[in-house]
Amino acid sequence: MNKVIGILAGSLRKESFSKKISKAVLAMAPQGFKFRTISLADLPIYNQDFDDDNEVPPAITLFREEMAKVDGILFITPEYNRSVPALLKNALDVGSRPYGESVWNSKPAAIFSNSPGNLSGFGANHHLRQSLVFLNVPTMQQPEVYLHKVHELFDENGNLNEGSTKELLQKAVDAYIIWFKRNAA
Ligand code: FNR
Repeated sequence: MNKVIGILAGSLRKESFSKKISKAVLAMAPQGFKFRTISLADLPIYNQDFDDDNEVPPAITLFREEMAKVDGILFITPEYNRSVPALLKNALDVGSRPYGESVWNSKPAAIFSNSPGNLSGFGANHHLRQSLVFLNVPTMQQPEVYLHKVHELFDENGNLNEGSTKELLQKAVDAYIIWFKRNAA
């Protein structure tokens, strides 16, 4: 039975670099693993009343069900104002409730951050780690993956160019698989 790794990209933009990286990573699953893109496009902003009043929007139920079937997570995040984009933070919040039924608990993860700038989404990467500590998500420490000048990495069809970044991503995915096997509950 394949282990399923959910890929969550922190952007909804049509031409999102994070989504293009996700697409490239999707093709890097080794034997025994299936990588699956999880859409965040329809998720409403979390309101605790949804769960308290038993009026959970269908898109949230669907997301929680999808995440329940995932064994591990790859976060591909851009940086918004030196932190995690609200889209991704909201997904963490939505999946963390109802209390005691978090979809994140114990699932090994890795974070690949990116930016057109030189700081490579470092702030987003580390703010995401802060939440993942609380959510009990064992998050790969090495190699760290910070992709800078991300706008230079793709061809006109949005495919990741051959070369050092693709190799770096493949090495990071390989390391993540080892991390996953060590840390999966
Ligand atoms: C940005 N951007 C940005 N970049 C960065 O390196 N550090 C930052 O703090 C921010 N802040 C920020 C805030 C907001 C609201 C926007 C819209 C953008 C630029 C960002 O990296 C760029 O738009 C990326 O292309 C966004 O990622 P996707 O959509 O390409 O995946």
